[in-house]
Amino acid sequence: MTDKSLIAVLKKFETEGLAAVRDASDLGALERVRVELLGRKEGSISVVLRGLSNVPPDERPTVGQEANRVKEILSRAIVERESSFIEGTSISHEDLTLPSRATWEGAIHPVTQAVDEISKIFRDLGFTRARGPEADTEWYNFEALNTPLDHPAADEQDTLYLTDSVLLRSHTSPVQMRTMEKHDPPIRIIAPGWVYRRDTYDATHTPAFMQVEGLVIDEGITFVDFKATLAEFARRYWGPDTEVRFRPSFFPFTEPSAEVDVKRVVTRQDGTREEMEWLEIMGAGMVDPAVIENAGYDPERYTGFAFGMGPGRIAMIKHGVDDLRRFFENDVRFLGQFTS
Ligand code: PHE
Repeated sequence: MTDKSLIAVLKKFETEGLAAVRDASDLGALERVRVELLGRKEGSISVVLRGLSNVPPDERPTVGQEANRVKEILSRAIVERESSFIEGTSISHEDLTLPSRATWEGAIHPVTQAVDEISKIFRDLGFTRARGPEADTEWYNFEALNTPLDHPAADEQDTLYLTDSVLLRSHTSPVQMRTMEKHDPPIRIIAPGWVYRRDTYDATHTPAFMQVEGLVIDEGITFVDFKATLAEFARRYWGPDTEVRFRPSFFPFTEPSAEVDVKRVVTRQDGTREEMEWLEIMGAGMVDPAVIENAGYDPERYTGFAFGMGPGRIAMIKHGVDDLRRFFENDVRFLGQFTS
């Protein structure tokens, strides 16, 4: 064959090949066209290129160039057709220098994280979780807990009443009585939940906040169990070097009552240890026999302890947040810092 006729054949391959590529209706058909034209063994163009040794030496460069040009054009057409089948992508137009889009990742709210960590520690200590209603009666919120209705806490100044005797619970302690009514001792529960008070909204108060209540009732529970359990909780939450102190206090439903304080020891990056200041983390005490009696248990046989803590305050201390309102504003720039 002369180079003229070979070049005509290549032209024919080009026109017919481009038409075949255009007509390929799916990726399978396109692949068959590719093999027919460019397949290494039997592909038309490959056959021509392999046959170049039979072309007279002075004609070889022209035929070779033409064969490579047609090969190039057909390959490009095949790649383009291929990307048209893959929706929305065009390989030739992709800008690989574009910065990638930011991915949004959800995060657990820092107060919920505190509730979860507290719950896990008490679960490891053998506690289960209990719950009670947020709208409750004066009986469960106050009277059953040995708090007369003329006690200042029952005052309308502090409590959000829904009707004459139904209110939004001002603490999670009503879950103590609701649990004791349903179950016989031994009882070992925590009850996380929302509580409500007629408080101004400022850096350290919000009208709705969370508490985690705890209650243990059994035969032979002593002040030692009380102190040891809460000290163990504090060390597991704040670190093994944490110091714990019990300061005498008063709650109508516990006797004796205590405020529990912790002193954390922080180890700096350079290895130096710094003792932090004392922080109050909960109210607690031995369950008053009057409460045990209200539950219908024999106060001669059963004793126990109870505690209540604010995970919002605990989260503030833990993360060095100085304004409680940050936890309620739901600003993602703030909340995004607590992914873990
Ligand atoms: N209910 C108390 C409060 O809201 C806390 C507390 C719970 C104290 C249980 C003693 C025992 O402040």
